Amino acid sequence: MLTLDIAPAIAQNTTDTTQDVAEQVEDLRQQLNRHNHLYYVQDAPEITDAQYDALMRELRQIETAHPELITPESPSRRVGAEPAERFDPVEHPRPMFSLANAFDAEEFAAWHKRVANLLERDAFDDAFDMVCELKFDGLAVALTYENGVFTRGATRGNGLVGEDVTLNLRTIKSIPLTLMRQDVPRRLEVRGEVYFPISRFEKFNADRAARGEQTYANPRNTAAGSLRQLDPRNTAQRPLDIFVYSLGYADPDDAMPQTHWDTLQYLKDLGFKVSDYNRRVHTAQDAIAFYEGWLTRADSLDVAADGVVVKVDRLDYQRHLGVVGREPRWAVAYKFPAEQAQTRLLDIRVNVGRTGSLNPYAVLQPVVIGGATVKQATLHNEAYIREKDLRIGDWVVAERAGEVIPQVVSAIADRRDGGEREFAMPQSCPSCDQAVVSPEDEAMSYCVNAACPAQLVRLLEHFVSRGAMDIEGMGVKWGELLIQQGLIRDVADIYRLRREDLAQLNLLDAIDAGKARDMADLLGNIGIPLVGKKSAELLAAAFPNLKALMDANEYALTDVNGIPLRVARSVTAYFADEEHRALIAQRGATLLQQNLIADQNDLWHIAKDNLRHPERMRQKSVSNLLNAIDASKQRPLARLLAALGIRHVGAEIAELLARTFTDIDALMAANEEALTAIPAIGPRIAESVASYFANDANRRVIEKLRAAGVRLQDAPRAEPTEQPFAGMRFVVTGRLRQFSRSQIQTLIKERGGAVSGSVSKKTDYLVAGEDAGSKLADAERLEVKTLTEDAFLEMLPD
Ligand code: IVH
Repeated sequence: MLTLDIAPAIAQNTTDTTQDVAEQVEDLRQQLNRHNHLYYVQDAPEITDAQYDALMRELRQIETAHPELITPESPSRRVGAEPAERFDPVEHPRPMFSLANAFDAEEFAAWHKRVANLLERDAFDDAFDMVCELKFDGLAVALTYENGVFTRGATRGNGLVGEDVTLNLRTIKSIPLTLMRQDVPRRLEVRGEVYFPISRFEKFNADRAARGEQTYANPRNTAAGSLRQLDPRNTAQRPLDIFVYSLGYADPDDAMPQTHWDTLQYLKDLGFKVSDYNRRVHTAQDAIAFYEGWLTRADSLDVAADGVVVKVDRLDYQRHLGVVGREPRWAVAYKFPAEQAQTRLLDIRVNVGRTGSLNPYAVLQPVVIGGATVKQATLHNEAYIREKDLRIGDWVVAERAGEVIPQVVSAIADRRDGGEREFAMPQSCPSCDQAVVSPEDEAMSYCVNAACPAQLVRLLEHFVSRGAMDIEGMGVKWGELLIQQGLIRDVADIYRLRREDLAQLNLLDAIDAGKARDMADLLGNIGIPLVGKKSAELLAAAFPNLKALMDANEYALTDVNGIPLRVARSVTAYFADEEHRALIAQRGATLLQQNLIADQNDLWHIAKDNLRHPERMRQKSVSNLLNAIDASKQRPLARLLAALGIRHVGAEIAELLARTFTDIDALMAANEEALTAIPAIGPRIAESVASYFANDANRRVIEKLRAAGVRLQDAPRAEPTEQPFAGMRFVVTGRLRQFSRSQIQTLIKERGGAVSGSVSKKTDYLVAGEDAGSKLADAERLEVKTLTEDAFLEMLPD
């Protein structure tokens, strides 16, 4: 085998580069490549993201100081190229074939038999090995390596000529820029399938929706579109991935493996991402079993697979079998049944998103597709409905591919009977009835009423979510209740909620028939001061029903073993409050109306087992919620900007705006011109930001936030925080005194540490407040070091 030195040509001749620096650069690159491979290919990182970033920073710094050391295959050079004007055609040195299909076991068996005949073997007794692989649904690419360095990547195109998408492929982190073995052929081409992982696709779409941008229909087309971006920086924003499934050619090829199975192992050794699900089998029955095993499981993968590819293992057999037309005889695509079905489009309805976007969706005659019942499908926007010419009453083809939201693929025009109706986007909002606006350059229509209740529910949900203000414990259910009760009219009202408001709601929610499991659960959750789980259980056991408890006086209550006087007083005080009693009575009337209870008295008799829905309440206590609301006032400006629901402003744009202006007043004072001066901010975003802040209702929201003490500016950017916790794992538990748990977690993360939810052998420290409970026990058992809050704070550098 040919041995080649693939170490980047270090500029040994330049006088200003010492050998030391060159070695250091090479060492950093090797480390980065190794960790990149561990992370993106093996899915088994050994270092934290922060540590990886630190290595990368170090490499970049040296490269900046010594530009003569930069090589295209340096891990620092994946992105950054200038946009291309077009893609050059690439003639494939060997054609990229397609595959013949088999749609059922019979057709597959027929393929197997034919191969056996051609190989002059008995299909049963003297069979031949095959490799079974999943058929991933993305797009085929060919990657060329010269002397171990990635030099060219091309799409399949028509099989003979594809397009040069090298710069875009370089952004895929699981594609090695240099091969991991040195003894490789001078020239080598591997082939594989580029795809958009489903989870990343959904996040990508959600982020787009958050910015008011059009969402994409499916991961496959989006992957294809992403690879064909002229600006590689766009591709880099779309986290594509690849599975490599064959060696196109090698030159010289004398030392190459002789079976497909060994080739796959070889490709893995070179650093490529090869599917772990590949199997070598001996008989047609084994291959069918492989197929059937995946038939029901394939949609649990994070990549769409539309079948199984079965390939003859021995390469000499492959050559012997040859190719007919475009299809090799030695392989077959054994396809999963299509995940499509025909059904009726009963109606097109519209819901309102948080930026006011009107999102049309299809109401379908329920139909089973790929084992799940589909009743609704997204229709994206009005343009999509026009383009597909979908009419209410149509027979349509509906698709449910993998984990993706169901889609309406097309209308079946042949089945129309004339009774179908065209859909028109409502001219007024379905929730608040205010006029709808359709910006000229957009496919979307919007409700622009800042007080629209449907919008407010969605906005509130977004405002409190993780990536935004992160108010834990404040879910949709709360949002709806608070809005319904008139306690929240805009997001700033969150910061005006009083303990009594929340306690009341907790009560409402708790007796909402669907929540509390029994009387103890109810009592423990309606916000009676001092009544926790234990007292609630004692009281529930002692009184036959709620009514009896409400009427009990202090003495009757203290008669209960374990109930001290102060708890008894708190209970009587709570029920002495007419508002609380009225609320319960009012709730009883509603439940009665809704037929959830048969008799008003039922409510008074909520006793051990007579609630209809035995779901356990998972409510945070009112105090926790208030703390969470309070803590959220200190979020960085970028998070607040992302939380406000400004059209087209997602996390990234918010970050950019916050970095540029650092103060909301400066941002509010900026006009469109100033906004478009910021790189990456185009007229559309500028317009939407400016018009958001020009709106009186929105300005009021900002003023209310200010009055409530919500932080509206960022502290001047400090030097990057030191990273004393890099590589360390923390768990935080128990009740803390000076900080909330999430504040401590932020302190840890800002300093390079990782935070997890449970204690394991890998945990370095448990920060334990009062009543730490089971995690403390876990830490003791696993001999994990435990820190008090004070001890932890002492670890922080000043
Ligand atoms: S083998 C002659 N293996 O399916 C061999 N193809 O029609 C041709 N595909 O777009 C390819 N997963 O990219 C092979 N494990 C796999 C595959 C696979 C997906 C795609 C391929 C092409 C199509 C073949």
